[in-house]
Amino acid sequence: MAGIHMSSVLLLVFVSLSCSEARDHLVGGKSGAWKVPTSDAESLNHWAEKSRFNIGDSLVWEYDGSKDSVLQVTKRDYVTCNTSKPIETYTGGSTKVKLAHSGPYYFISGANGNCEKGQKVIVVVISERHRNLIISPAPSPAESEGPAVAPAPASGAGSLRGGFLAVVLGALLVAVGKLI
Ligand SMILES: *[C@@H]1O[C@H](CO)[C@@H](O)[C@H](O)[C@H]1NC(C)=O
Repeated sequence: MAGIHMSSVLLLVFVSLSCSEARDHLVGGKSGAWKVPTSDAESLNHWAEKSRFNIGDSLVWEYDGSKDSVLQVTKRDYVTCNTSKPIETYTGGSTKVKLAHSGPYYFISGANGNCEKGQKVIVVVISERHRNLIISPAPSPAESEGPAVAPAPASGAGSLRGGFLAVVLGALLVAVGKLI
């Protein structure tokens, strides 16, 4: 009995974790949004803060390739809007960059003067380790949490199940958080 429960719970954990399939993020939320923002609400970092980026996701830019480009730069060059030595230069009007590692990515416009006017964006990719840290407060099976999550289970197998439920809840919270 407990064995069946455990495997179905593990399956749930697996399913909710694998919901994090790779996504494409259109920078700015719409085509042509890679431009000098006209208001704070339109700023690209405002957009980035509302999104959740995972390893394996991609950023997509749609812009006028005859007037603009996308430069991936260091933090320092992001802050100072220095376009002279980008890590990568993307041109052509349609750019896709895969987010292969966790941490911050810095992008600025290659159009003269645009970065200074706010055409820049920081994208922070969540690491797997960080995500596991969020989930890990699940208690050890020996001293189950019980009341906070569900009515305290009576048997040993039950408390083990409670621990797994906490993990599932954690995973679901993370999954839901990603949707918001
Ligand atoms: C821009 O970066 C280059 C290369 O890192 C550096 O040589 C140059 O001094 C920088 N320019 C400014 C204005 O900081």
